[in-house]
Amino acid sequence: MARILITSAIPYINGIKHLGNLIGSQLPADLFARYNRARGNEVLFLCATDEHGTPAELAAAKAGKPVAEYCAEMWAVQARIADGFRLSFDHFGRSSSPQNHKLTQHFAGRLADVGLIKEVSEKQVYSNADGRFLPDRYIEGTCPNCGYDKARGDQCENCTKQLDPTDLINPRSAISGSTDLEVRETKHLYLRQSEMRAQLSEWIDSKTDWPILTTSIAKKWLNDGDGLQDRGITRDLDWGIPVKKGDEDWPGMEGKVFYVWFDAPIEYIACAAEWVDAGKGADWERWWRTDKGADDVRYVQFMGKDNVPFHTLSFPATIIGSGEPWKLVDYIKSFNYLNYDGGQFSTSQGRGVFMDQALDILPPDYWRWWLLSHAPETSDAEFTWEAFQTDVNKDLADVLGNFVSRITKFCRAKFGEVVPEGGDYGPEEQALIDALDARLDAYQGHMDAIDIRKAAAELRAIWVLGNEYLQSAAPWTAFKTDPDRAAAITRLALNLIPFYASLSAPFIPDAAAAMLTGMHTDAAWPEDAATALARLPAGHVFTVPEVLFAKIADETREEWQTRFAGIRT
Ligand code: 2FM
Ligand code: ZN
Repeated sequence: MARILITSAIPYINGIKHLGNLIGSQLPADLFARYNRARGNEVLFLCATDEHGTPAELAAAKAGKPVAEYCAEMWAVQARIADGFRLSFDHFGRSSSPQNHKLTQHFAGRLADVGLIKEVSEKQVYSNADGRFLPDRYIEGTCPNCGYDKARGDQCENCTKQLDPTDLINPRSAISGSTDLEVRETKHLYLRQSEMRAQLSEWIDSKTDWPILTTSIAKKWLNDGDGLQDRGITRDLDWGIPVKKGDEDWPGMEGKVFYVWFDAPIEYIACAAEWVDAGKGADWERWWRTDKGADDVRYVQFMGKDNVPFHTLSFPATIIGSGEPWKLVDYIKSFNYLNYDGGQFSTSQGRGVFMDQALDILPPDYWRWWLLSHAPETSDAEFTWEAFQTDVNKDLADVLGNFVSRITKFCRAKFGEVVPEGGDYGPEEQALIDALDARLDAYQGHMDAIDIRKAAAELRAIWVLGNEYLQSAAPWTAFKTDPDRAAAITRLALNLIPFYASLSAPFIPDAAAAMLTGMHTDAAWPEDAATALARLPAGHVFTVPEVLFAKIADETREEWQTRFAGIRT
């Protein structure tokens, strides 16, 4: 039995995520977790909310709530939606947890002890009206280059010129609009990750099996980007993890917090401690400390491509730099973007389908199947309502759903709701079993390799084999002349249902559960087709399941298309 640690990039707390975010990390991570559990591996699957940083503070202010209260509420909202999509986290934590405070302060302390932290004095814009320092992008003004009057302190959106806040003409606070700004001197901590270039480079070079998307981004930042410049890890904000050196105060750092991208990945570790403290597990260090049992753990991370630099460079710099025996990631599965109907999903503009809206109109399996079978693995992918309707109707309703309904109803009509006895399997059954064995092998190979689209295609092909078998063996015809032969065909076809349910559960857990309930049996990962198709013996009682998947009608699709064309406010 293998031990597999799985983390999904932790979503920002502010707002509900769209379907592009879902397929960019949480959903594929869930697929992999469910698959590995089904194969009998020991899995720890963790996710959390990413709660710090200015966007969280501003969203709370907009909602008129104290930030802690806002985060607690939004955590509950995100947890409920994750449940709705059947995301099977062993724990859904919070980066604001006491466990993360402690670990983040611990890492900073260690990094300081080994000389990897330096203090830097900087000039930064302070807003008297807001009573705070302003991050560059929260300062607005007129672009000195093109005259655009809403240029941000880091960049002009209009002419793309990179700016310094002091370049702006008539600068003002983007938070309050106040022009009462001044430049103040402030001290910050920097992680000296440039010192670690050789180690990181060697580590990334050793990962020859990683997806090209992951390594190409990592190498770009490592070699020609400025990804390994020393990095500021503190901020002048109220909300966040107070800067401390382990348990001790850090002179000169009073009132400052760690930068959100410093503490967020540490939450992957803290989340395991939260899992234990919540009474769900016994020992988190055996997942995270190689000196305490984690040396045989395989650690796999899932994320969108924009997160790759932080996970291939910054977080490993923290872990390796600490000099302590923490588990490093073994495999990083990254994703391109999912676009929406000719444009981009956009949280800021409310464009696309958001996770709560998706569940309002259809059960999770429809979304899971479509998104996973179109996962943006090798290039960006696009969601269109037409493609969604066509694929769902074909794969789920016509192929899988129809197979289950056809054979169970036929059996009920001719033999009753019981697996019929009599007759023998012949060459047609053997051919089916051989074909299933070959595809089962391929399916497992793709799932092990996290080749999601290929795995989905293989699963679909496995469903199709059942339909083709039923079509050509035609028990309804055989029944007229040779009821025993019809019984044998029916017995085999009924046995395909738990076989399909077990294989499909990682993609469509609810439908799989309904299939198993209908067949009065449990999931069992097949060792081989012949054994699996002998599971339900003659005389085994079943109940015809409810319709598994309803087809999406043209009018419904058009209605959704219109409903989601607008902008969510
Ligand atoms: O892109 C995002 O949604 C970030 N909140 C991901 C953080 S992943 C990790 F580092 F914790
Ligand atoms: Zn400009």
